[in-house]
Amino acid sequence: MKKLFLGTNLKMYKTAQQTEDYLKSLINISKDSDDAVLFVIPSYTALERASEAAAGSNIHIGAQNMHPEEQGQFTGEISPLMLKEFNVGIIEIGHSERRSIFKETDKEENAKVLSALAHGFTPLLCIGESAEDKEYEISDEILAIQLKRCLSGVPEDKAEQLMIAYEPVWAIGVNGVPAQPDYVAERHRTIKRVLDDLFCGKDIPVLYGGSVNMENAASLIKLDGVDGLFIGRSAWDIQSFEKIIKETTEVWQNKKW
Ligand code: PGA
Repeated sequence: MKKLFLGTNLKMYKTAQQTEDYLKSLINISKDSDDAVLFVIPSYTALERASEAAAGSNIHIGAQNMHPEEQGQFTGEISPLMLKEFNVGIIEIGHSERRSIFKETDKEENAKVLSALAHGFTPLLCIGESAEDKEYEISDEILAIQLKRCLSGVPEDKAEQLMIAYEPVWAIGVNGVPAQPDYVAERHRTIKRVLDDLFCGKDIPVLYGGSVNMENAASLIKLDGVDGLFIGRSAWDIQSFEKIIKETTEVWQNKKW
């Protein structure tokens, strides 16, 4: 059976202490979740304690961003070598907040993807159309462009190291509107098709994110082409995440492969 991917980006929430406490609880409740790959992406300052807390458990730790260069005059940035010092496996790249607030471009995301791969990390590339793109009915074109630009130059033999998070910008965060399952299924079909064109049938997990909650998680995971969920707010409360892990794992076990 394929693995189910369930992860959370803690954004600029939770201090190092809070992250450690959260991880300890998560390790406790997820001991028997053999079918799921669980991951947590805390802030940089919590990474050391998070990786220590997660050592020997089934929880993977990620970083929310990474500069592509190993060192240089880039005040405030964190390099792959610095992240290598911790037990970090995943690098989140191109979250919509990075793109919209910090004006990151596909070209920059591409450099980060290539650098993350070169340093042995799993790049978790986030893509998603804006509300305006959706209105113009160009979501599929936008997703294809983002994938082609951000994954440019990725060698085929490294493609299976990638993870993709499809997160419609209009569905993310407190002002987000949850996407309908039919809509999500169509976009995942497009993403899988583009990945297939780029990497000839390589198995690359595509996660859905954006206002995932206890009510919609199970129906999203049922969809073809949805290999997991990338969750914000609803995972930050450990009881709520526990419920989502339980329900989606059950659905996953009954999914036909
Ligand atoms: P949300 O966040 O689940 O709170 O909408 C998702 C994300 O930003 O990745």
